[in-house]
Amino acid sequence: MYDFAPGCAADKTALYADLRSAAAAVVAGEGDAIANMANVAALIWQFLPGLNWAGFYRLIGEELVLGPFQGKAACIRIPLGKGVCGAAAATRRTQCIADVHAFPGHIACDAASASEIVVPLVHEGRLIGVLDLDSPIPARFDDGDVAGLEALCARIALALAG
Ligand code: SME
Repeated sequence: MYDFAPGCAADKTALYADLRSAAAAVVAGEGDAIANMANVAALIWQFLPGLNWAGFYRLIGEELVLGPFQGKAACIRIPLGKGVCGAAAATRRTQCIADVHAFPGHIACDAASASEIVVPLVHEGRLIGVLDLDSPIPARFDDGDVAGLEALCARIALALAG
């Protein structure tokens, strides 16, 4: 388990409500998708405990290309259907992986990663990319994170679509 960061809401629903409000405020009035992804990645890093990577991959053509993130340098291009990110993009379904080492085709960018959640970013029926969070803690993400991150992505999809 992990402790919530000092100053953060103790309840996961409240924590994600705070994160959503902060993200909506930071993207308000800004139309540049890269700038918005950069600020949202920074907010996720600030709000959510127990992460070793948080950021975006953008769909460009038939592959995911590394976008703004916090954490160690990562693999740049991921074909659709490859790894956890490619699976989320290909299926347009959130992938919540308790043990990345048990996921067939997992792409290890940071050897410290033990669990991962990837949420597809969809705006008006169009796949924009994915939001990817990694943790060194096994089974770090649960249904509360799935709901919180999907709500976050839905709220700011327009600002990330460019
Ligand atoms: N682990 C991901 C690759 C991206 S990194 O975690 C930043 C995957 O399997 O798609």
